[in-house]
Amino acid sequence: MENLSKDIEEILITEEELKEKIKELGRQITKDYVGKNLMLVGVLKGALMFMADLSRNIDLPLSLDFMAVSSYGSSTHSSGIVKIIKDLDISIEGKDVLIVEDIIDSGLTLSYLRETLLGRKPKSLKICTILDKPERREASVKVDYVGFKIPDKFVVGYGLDFDEKYRNLPFIGVLKPEMYS
Ligand code: PRP
Ligand code: MN
Ligand code: MG
Repeated sequence: MENLSKDIEEILITEEELKEKIKELGRQITKDYVGKNLMLVGVLKGALMFMADLSRNIDLPLSLDFMAVSSYGSSTHSSGIVKIIKDLDISIEGKDVLIVEDIIDSGLTLSYLRETLLGRKPKSLKICTILDKPERREASVKVDYVGFKIPDKFVVGYGLDFDEKYRNLPFIGVLKPEMYS
């Protein structure tokens, strides 16, 4: 990743650290969901990589599906209004749903999703995120599984984008300020 890495100031979480943490999360989730009707709901597009890796570390039968949402307003500050761009294909009624996210920032996306999905009568609903940026929280959300708590830095990679790019970096990096200013 020599070309793409030129835009990165610092690697915050390496590929190896991600791999180890996801193994650990997978083990925990496997333990917690034995005998349940697990369904993973990934939030496009950021959760793409995490969904692929996490699901392969859960040693249970499960179903998975994706949703895409977008928040209105500027890309740097969300208004709290979230719109469903792509809904689930599979019903979640009676399922033990685990939402899979790449990052919780303001918490607005997840608090909306949580309320929306709860209205569809799942048997249970929990949240798993690989990154959590607690300093930026505007809406409180209860997160059940967290990979890493990170400081308020401009991070990209492993699904996270800036202007739709850098999602394919295999690690979590901090973007050089000159790339976005
Ligand atoms: C990003 C990220 C989370 C959300 C977190 O998605 O992937 O889904 O923002 O922010 P919040 O906690 O402040 O709501 P984005 O809307 O950029 O779409 P993307 O996943 O397609 O990049
Ligand atoms: Mn997202
Ligand atoms: Mg984004």
